[in-house]
Amino acid sequence: MSNSCKKVYITTPIYYVNDVPHIGHAYTTIIADTLARYSRLIGHETFFLTGTDEHGQKIEQAAKQRGKSPKEYADEISAKFKNLWDEFEISYDKFIRTTDKEHVIGVQKAFEIMYNKGDIYKGMYKGHYCISCETFFTETQIVDGEFCPDCGKQTTIVEEESYFFKLSKYQDKLLAWYKEKPNCILPKTRRNEVIRFVENGLEDLSITRTSFDWGIKLPKSINDPKHVIYVWLDALMNYITALGYGTNEEKMDFWPAKVHLIGKDILRFHAIYWPAFLMSLDLELPKHIAAHGWWTRNGEKMSKSKGNVINPKEVANIYGLENFRYFMLREVPFGGDGDFSQKALMDRINSDLGNDLGNLLNRLIGMSSKYNEGKISSCDVKKFFAKELGEVETIIDSLEEFVFNMQLNKYLEELWKLLSIANKAIDTYQPWNLMKNNQEDKALALNGLIANILAKVALLLHPVMPKTTQKIAHALGFEISPNSYDKYIKQKALLEDFIIEKIPPLFPKIEKELMAEPSKTQKEQTPKKESKKESSKESGIITIDEFFKTELKIGTILEAKEVPKSKKLLLLQVDLGEEKPRQIVAGIKEWYKPQELINTQVCVVANLKPAKLMGYLSEGMLLAAKDENGLSLLRPEKPKQAGTKVS
Ligand code: ME8
Ligand code: MG
Repeated sequence: MSNSCKKVYITTPIYYVNDVPHIGHAYTTIIADTLARYSRLIGHETFFLTGTDEHGQKIEQAAKQRGKSPKEYADEISAKFKNLWDEFEISYDKFIRTTDKEHVIGVQKAFEIMYNKGDIYKGMYKGHYCISCETFFTETQIVDGEFCPDCGKQTTIVEEESYFFKLSKYQDKLLAWYKEKPNCILPKTRRNEVIRFVENGLEDLSITRTSFDWGIKLPKSINDPKHVIYVWLDALMNYITALGYGTNEEKMDFWPAKVHLIGKDILRFHAIYWPAFLMSLDLELPKHIAAHGWWTRNGEKMSKSKGNVINPKEVANIYGLENFRYFMLREVPFGGDGDFSQKALMDRINSDLGNDLGNLLNRLIGMSSKYNEGKISSCDVKKFFAKELGEVETIIDSLEEFVFNMQLNKYLEELWKLLSIANKAIDTYQPWNLMKNNQEDKALALNGLIANILAKVALLLHPVMPKTTQKIAHALGFEISPNSYDKYIKQKALLEDFIIEKIPPLFPKIEKELMAEPSKTQKEQTPKKESKKESSKESGIITIDEFFKTELKIGTILEAKEVPKSKKLLLLQVDLGEEKPRQIVAGIKEWYKPQELINTQVCVVANLKPAKLMGYLSEGMLLAAKDENGLSLLRPEKPKQAGTKVS
């Protein structure tokens, strides 16, 4: 990052409020927070944005399933994200919600400008839509005629009037941008991916929907109240509406963003749609779009349905928030996938933090107390240790480029080389022998060298471990701030004389894994939160509210067929009075033939989390009773309309 750029704007994605935050969200936010803290430390005026993405069909559905209004539901989950970031001391300057009034006005304004420019036209959309990804797909993109190529879930067919954005018009301009700014998309391998995608041709993008309500209406001037704005257009605009675009534009001088930090799942939206929208609005393009990889667990992507999700709050509580931050940034090269294991986390804490950093400080406290009542001076450091100081400065000079190239793991690796210079110096010069051999000057200068290296490391590590490094700085008699950064890093000054403060070890050794396995922990956690209900759970008695959490509905079986290679399973399409039939995989093949099921009615658990059985998505469960005479489906006594509630 060049020092001429004074205003720095850093963003995270705005997270969907359909689910509570997990370690993946924490990862993105922690990287962005580190960049923001770094940018402030080196003296730039910094604006750091995060928030929640609250409109669209997915949220509307999630709210409905819980019997809440979308806004009520969004308020609840958005607060969970905000609270987590506050607990994690994330230094955001603004937390935007797409239901904020200013955002809504800004999006409508942008839509109007693009429309008046001729970049938006009305037409008919027909194609597939993945609600989970909130993404349109063409026939050629989807898998096996119905599944989402990104998340594997079943898509719906959408056929409706829609406004389109002339994305195709921007194809060449986008390609020119990728070529002209080789670092616009990081890591570079991702940039190549995007280029290939765009070179294959861009179709115009459907940017409004009419089949549901939960979204931003078109601007009044267009007067077409059926339509709501496509959630991705709405969401991407947050990056400018947060600066006041379309309302109070005072903060727009932070634009363009220095970096939009995202996960690789949403690269296409950020690297193709977003710059095209910006071009249409005649706004500058972001400097970097940086896409990180997945956190996995034993090689599998973390997801709720697999039950392998790590709760970031738990990790932070048990292993320490800042240790966890260090681990996440150090463990995986940016862009690559990272596997979460407690062992890896423990190793990082015990070895990198405990041995290399913590022990170095302890040794310095010990030696300086023993040799000089804790007094440390830099006066003879240059005289005795010019070589070591030179090596330190060379490494520091090369560090800055790693930060905004997103090579934070590399940055930390280099930083640890400084610690190794210090640790090696102790082993090489053996201060205890220097003391014995009348070389007290040199022994004390060695303490000075170590103190200065620790001070520089504390400053440079500060964005990653804010509080821990402040403690180190205090022990060394200074305060971490943009001023001290300027003095000790940029101007390469050495510490003034001080008396070291004895502080307790910063990284006590961790002997064994401290967390229960995640699946267990997740289960244990839910009842903890609802402690009142716990006692009734033990007795087996539930309240009426608990019973009504299960949504039971009458369904009509429209289609039934065998699941190939399965002895037990049938694949059913069941009408629950919804937009489209539900696919349900039922273990009833031993007792029912597919033919005899068609057009019969059943009772369905309608709000069960979808699961895959033998590769087929099942979106509900049939109620049945089984005894030694076999299995019998529960059916209404008289025919009922599909979707009728059972209570
Ligand atoms: O996509 N590993 O929101 P979202 C690493 N609302 N990062 C992960 C992860 C994992 N296993 N899972 C999620 C949306 N993430 C849109 C964004 S922006 C204008 C709109 C992180 O709640 C990662 O940063 O699905 C990913 O991009 C983001 O969460 C997706 O969050
Ligand atoms: Mg997602």
